Amino acid sequence: MMLETIDLAPRIGTEIRADAAALLSGEHAAQIREVLGGRGLVLFRELNLDDRQQVAFARTLGDVMNQGEDHIYKVTLDKTVTKTAEYLLGTFFWHIDGTTDAIPSRASLLSARRLSETGGRTEWANTYAAYEDLPQGEKDTVAGLRVVHSAETIERAARPDFTEEDVADWRTRPVRSHPLVWTHASGRKSLVLGATASHVEGFEPDESRALLDHLLERATQAQYVYQHEWHVGDLVIWDNTGTMHRVDPYSADSGRMMHRTTLVGEEPLA
Ligand code: OGA
Ligand code: MN
Repeated sequence: MMLETIDLAPRIGTEIRADAAALLSGEHAAQIREVLGGRGLVLFRELNLDDRQQVAFARTLGDVMNQGEDHIYKVTLDKTVTKTAEYLLGTFFWHIDGTTDAIPSRASLLSARRLSETGGRTEWANTYAAYEDLPQGEKDTVAGLRVVHSAETIERAARPDFTEEDVADWRTRPVRSHPLVWTHASGRKSLVLGATASHVEGFEPDESRALLDHLLERATQAQYVYQHEWHVGDLVIWDNTGTMHRVDPYSADSGRMMHRTTLVGEEPLA
């Protein structure tokens, strides 16, 4: 039996109606993976899975990354809960997760546990659609280009009050070069952009910044974006290989708490 689906925006995002038992059975995993790949994002409204159910559901979809406590990484700006909370300020900027990892994650499952009073809406942009719509001239321009991604680049943007110590810390983290256009195993192509993108290899700094800014602006136009207004218990799964995302700023003491479970990457960014 196929689950009921409702598209959220023309080019990205589909809501799936199902209860926890149906999802945990694994019976619908193939359909969910199909929708995820085709639509970039799947939403289950007010599903209210607990942590163990969330991880069990994730396991029906792929291999789960060893992150956080028992595969639940707490996405919060509260430093007393998550030691690396400061890094999460980078989530206010458009990004793809894991661009400095050997293989970026396949997907993430994010559930809302506590909301902030202001800010905290998350939005995703479909990077397949953005590539598809580029005029042929721009496709020709970006073909073959490579971009260097680093933690330092996004952290500099996110934390303008950084210290020399912060910079030294960021520089211990990996720096990676990726093609600007990801040619997936499926043959489909997507853009690889976001705030970890430092520069285009072989370009003058001005030319590089202009191109990256231009592409990011194009790729995050309203027609490629779905923005989610969270309710407690909502679960979103995003295809991290074909979308980028960011969250509306919220304050560190807002209490906002999201629980994330991440699926291991399945194909190198090539
Ligand atoms: C993430 C992320 C956005 C949010 O967990 O990778 O970017 O809304 N989260 O908290
Ligand atoms: Mn993220």
